Amino acid sequence: MLDAALEYLKNKFDNFKPDTAIILGSGLGGLISAIKNPLIIPYSEVPGFPTPTVAGHEGRFYAGKIGNHNVLCLQGRFHFYEGIDPMIVDAVIQMLKNLGIEQMIITNAAGSLRTSLPTGSLLLINDHINLSGINPLIGQHEAPYFPDMSNAYDYDMRQKFLKIAAQENITVPEGVYMMVLGPNYETKSEVRLFQSFGADAVGMSTVSEVISAVHKGMKVLGVSVISNLCTGLTDKEQNHDDVLQQVQKSSVKLGILIQKFLEKD
Ligand code: HPA
Repeated sequence: MLDAALEYLKNKFDNFKPDTAIILGSGLGGLISAIKNPLIIPYSEVPGFPTPTVAGHEGRFYAGKIGNHNVLCLQGRFHFYEGIDPMIVDAVIQMLKNLGIEQMIITNAAGSLRTSLPTGSLLLINDHINLSGINPLIGQHEAPYFPDMSNAYDYDMRQKFLKIAAQENITVPEGVYMMVLGPNYETKSEVRLFQSFGADAVGMSTVSEVISAVHKGMKVLGVSVISNLCTGLTDKEQNHDDVLQQVQKSSVKLGILIQKFLEKD
């Protein structure tokens, strides 16, 4: 589906073979400073590659080294609420696989479903609930047809991340991320329902990419930056500008953790 994009990127990269992809959530663009002298490629330059429409998602690839890893950073992702065909989300992940990506670090901004997880915290995702009603694998028939999700957020990657967080004195609880379709924020009643489901944070991304990545045999680390308390847990109204501002504040510590994580082996 994205054959022309794949060829274009391979040509641009020349001898550079990425092994790790990082998908940056809203407002998390600062994380790319960990890559020294990155090769920057706007999505709009890549033939057939879609362009995101949301503020905070710029639409650029950054390629370069962090530690021993060849990293490809995606600043700008594709949400179902943009009207994106689910198969496009899958095709982007397939393209990353075809470029040689073996592990993915997926970040997002998320609303907290519990007051013990305040704004500005990081949450290491250890499982997810797909409440988006959509699945990126719909319509494709590559094996495995019914992919296993029992270790979707790779155990070993999580242990390594937690160890680094402890060394850096950064508290990172683990928890369950729930994906909704969006684009509206939740009602109070929805928030109560999601709490009763056992979710810790809610957002409008990530799960779709994780399902595709796991289907293609890639290992995934998922981290949320808590950008707000969900509706009903705060008197404040929700708004995207506040979400972006909050995320920017916490992106420095997430950047340090991701950089150390990749420098470790
Ligand atoms: N709800 C859904 N998605 C989000 C939120 C939220 O409160 N915050 C950031 N993304």
